[in-house]
Amino acid sequence: MSKTMILLKPTLITYIALTISLVSMSKSDPLTEESTTGLTIDLIHRDSPQSPSYDPLLTPAQRLANALRRSFNRLQRFKADRLPQPDIINSGGEYLMKYSIGTPAVPSLGIADTGSDITWTQCQPCLKCFKQELPLFQPNTSSTYRKIPCNAANCTSFPEITFCSVRRKKCLYTEGYGDGSFTQGVLSTDTLTLASTGRKRVSVPNFVFGCGFRNGGTFTGGESGIVGLGGGKASLVRQLGFLTRGKFSYCLVSVSDNTSKLNFGANAEVLGRGVVSTPMVMKSPETFYRLTLEGISVGNQRLEMSDSGVSGEGNIIIDSGTTLTLLPIDLYNQVENALKSSIKLKRIKDPQGVLDLCYFTRNDIRIPEVTVHFKGADLKLRHDNVLVRTSNVSLCLAAKPVQDLAIYGYLAQVNFLVGYDLVKRTVSFKAADCGRS
Ligand SMILES: *[C@@H]1O[C@H](CO)[C@@H](O)[C@H](O)[C@H]1NC(C)=O
Ligand SMILES: *[C@@H]1O[C@H](CO)[C@@H](O)[C@H](O)[C@H]1NC(C)=O
Ligand SMILES: *[C@@H]1O[C@H](CO)[C@@H](O)[C@H](O)[C@H]1NC(C)=O
Ligand SMILES: *[C@@H]1O[C@H](CO)[C@@H](O)[C@H](O)[C@H]1NC(C)=O
Repeated sequence: MSKTMILLKPTLITYIALTISLVSMSKSDPLTEESTTGLTIDLIHRDSPQSPSYDPLLTPAQRLANALRRSFNRLQRFKADRLPQPDIINSGGEYLMKYSIGTPAVPSLGIADTGSDITWTQCQPCLKCFKQELPLFQPNTSSTYRKIPCNAANCTSFPEITFCSVRRKKCLYTEGYGDGSFTQGVLSTDTLTLASTGRKRVSVPNFVFGCGFRNGGTFTGGESGIVGLGGGKASLVRQLGFLTRGKFSYCLVSVSDNTSKLNFGANAEVLGRGVVSTPMVMKSPETFYRLTLEGISVGNQRLEMSDSGVSGEGNIIIDSGTTLTLLPIDLYNQVENALKSSIKLKRIKDPQGVLDLCYFTRNDIRIPEVTVHFKGADLKLRHDNVLVRTSNVSLCLAAKPVQDLAIYGYLAQVNFLVGYDLVKRTVSFKAADCGRS
């Protein structure tokens, strides 16, 4: 943290202090009936036609290539948790979530990120902001906006990311990592409004968020910041505990399809036939959702996770923002070999140059059933969880070998309802058709 503190010039902090005026707080909106049960929000893939980042000139393969590149950027950030440095920002997420902040409510579009906690949006006056489509949030126009003072619990409970402005008047925050992605600003509270499907709205007063005045890195402009859905105290899931009861779930559709869903509270229950659950393993930082991967079956051949490298409990992070699944080299090689020996098609090099096992085909192909064995939960994957089309003639295994940190990425989660329960400490899965609601 001290590293990033130097980046803030005292003179600039004073400037911010003078220009952001504190407006008296009015009583917050009452919570709606729905807030006591749950809510459901649309998630937009950042490359889908509904997203401001949508580029109609890109082919699906080019979009995928961009997503893969982001995936690797993101991996670098996850690796930071191997160092004693909890302030990591994961900006590589793929799904955007709409919410509003302030009174009157101003729309914002955050990357829904299960790999980070604090929610932040770019704010005026801005020292360094990336271009965004939506107007920047102007705290001085919100009657419910407040800066958090340094001595408030909301500042002191996050010593990893917060520090005092020079005049000790307000709590500044910084999250960042050496690859260039970062956010810095004023830790603040304001009313957060979420629009649930069915046009119901839920307003949450005194939501702790970052008003970012120095932000940059791998952002593309469709977004105005990040929505933190991690397991830490500052995350949206935990701050809305009265509503979420520590539960959220999502059902992701593939890139070009329509909206995915993000559910909170009662709406987030994963119930019915075929639900499987696996324990969440708690390790520091509590931001990341760690599961235990025991092995993967290809057909009836069971391949075990070996003890070398990442071993034992909590050996894989489940993440909605990483595209590919990243497996330890040994397990990856076993899976690749098992598939190679059962798929008798011409192999080609990945035209994108990213993936290792690719076949020349314009069609879907038959492959043995792939089952992922999490502790206590066997997941039978669908064809499109395993293979991804990287061009009109190539179909590739949607996984990569990595040295140390395994990640269960979002392609493997498409068309599963994935439910997180932070109270019971479980992650549940159920096969679903996420495109229909
Ligand atoms: C709010 O702040 C912006 C600069 O960030 C300034 O241009 C604007 O005039 C201010 N508005 C009010 C009502 O103070
Ligand atoms: C902020 O402070 C309030 C009042 O002390 C507390 O209820 C809330 O949990 C705090 N929020 C966070 C994110 O720490
Ligand atoms: C997605 O929604 C648009 C309208 O918003 C509709 O025209 C299109 O058919 C939908 N696509 C799918 C795959 O459902
Ligand atoms: C693949 O699609 C591109 C355009 O999308 C086309 O130009 C190319 O000829 C196609 N390649 C093959 C082998 O069909």
